[in-house]
Amino acid sequence: MNSKFKGKHFLSCEDWNKEELDIVFDTSFDLKNKFKTGVPTVHLHYKTLFMIFFEQSTRTRNSMEAGMTQLGGHAHDLTEDKMQLSHGEIAKDTAIILSRMGHGIASRNCFYGVGNEYLNEMARHSSKPVMSLQDDIYHPFQGLADLMTIFEKFSNDPKGLKVTVSWAYADTHSKPLSVPQTQLLLFPRYGIDLTVAHPKEFPLSKNIIDKAQKNAEEGGGSIKFTDNMDEGFEGAHIVIPKNWGGFGRYGVQEYLDNEAECKKEMAENLAKYKSWICNDDRIKLADKNVKLMHALPADRGNEVTDEILDNEEISIVFDEAENRLHTAKAIMALTM
Ligand code: CP
Repeated sequence: MNSKFKGKHFLSCEDWNKEELDIVFDTSFDLKNKFKTGVPTVHLHYKTLFMIFFEQSTRTRNSMEAGMTQLGGHAHDLTEDKMQLSHGEIAKDTAIILSRMGHGIASRNCFYGVGNEYLNEMARHSSKPVMSLQDDIYHPFQGLADLMTIFEKFSNDPKGLKVTVSWAYADTHSKPLSVPQTQLLLFPRYGIDLTVAHPKEFPLSKNIIDKAQKNAEEGGGSIKFTDNMDEGFEGAHIVIPKNWGGFGRYGVQEYLDNEAECKKEMAENLAKYKSWICNDDRIKLADKNVKLMHALPADRGNEVTDEILDNEEISIVFDEAENRLHTAKAIMALTM
């Protein structure tokens, strides 16, 4: 296992250059191949990962925990209520202590204006690598699995591939901005032509868009925006219909100071866009070989119809979900 990344944090794909990410992808494919053929990959024998979830998770929790087991180590599945965090113990103290007891810390904290700062505070004080399991800005493990899936299904060099990330209606909860923002930042670094479709009330964060434009210039990809879902789907090779909350409309401080009012306005805006669904009519606007991706969980019948999600000719969402395991194992094996 390549040792040059030992101790490196994984809080965002932005902190890893393309050459480094290429090693992560090579490692992911190698681990996937060995998983499929039953070859042991005991790179983290007796090592311990502490995972702290402030929110629910299926894919992230289980890819990390299963991944640690398959690498020969063990992951503690922790939540706020199991720890003294619930009595106010701060990120700094938590990070110092856990990093003395084990070999890595990973956390999901998606609270808007809080999560990314929390993870960075842990990273400043941890003597072991800190990994983001999703925050209010980034979901780096999702980005890796998405790109690995694109490499598998299309090409290792996806230059010119047309990918559309589209806001879609959902009524489950206000989903973070972190998945579309990670895709926006990452895909154009690999030459992908990205279209982002969203109603005007659901923008992504301006500083992320500015950074993504620079990434596109350097990586040979492109980014365009539309407020029309049909237009976004036209000619796309991949569509990613996914809800996100209206957080990007507010500055962080503005949101934190007026949270109740912002949430009320977000709910009112959401109700206007029930027609933003990936359905049969819309998928026909895309390329004839279009593929559907989604980080999951999908809000079936709102973000995307069952007919599209369950169509094995179109949907690659379960391959994408499986690749969460292989990419998680690559990052853990390389950094811990
Ligand atoms: N895509 C994803 O992060 O799924 P979970 O919320 O289930 O971890």
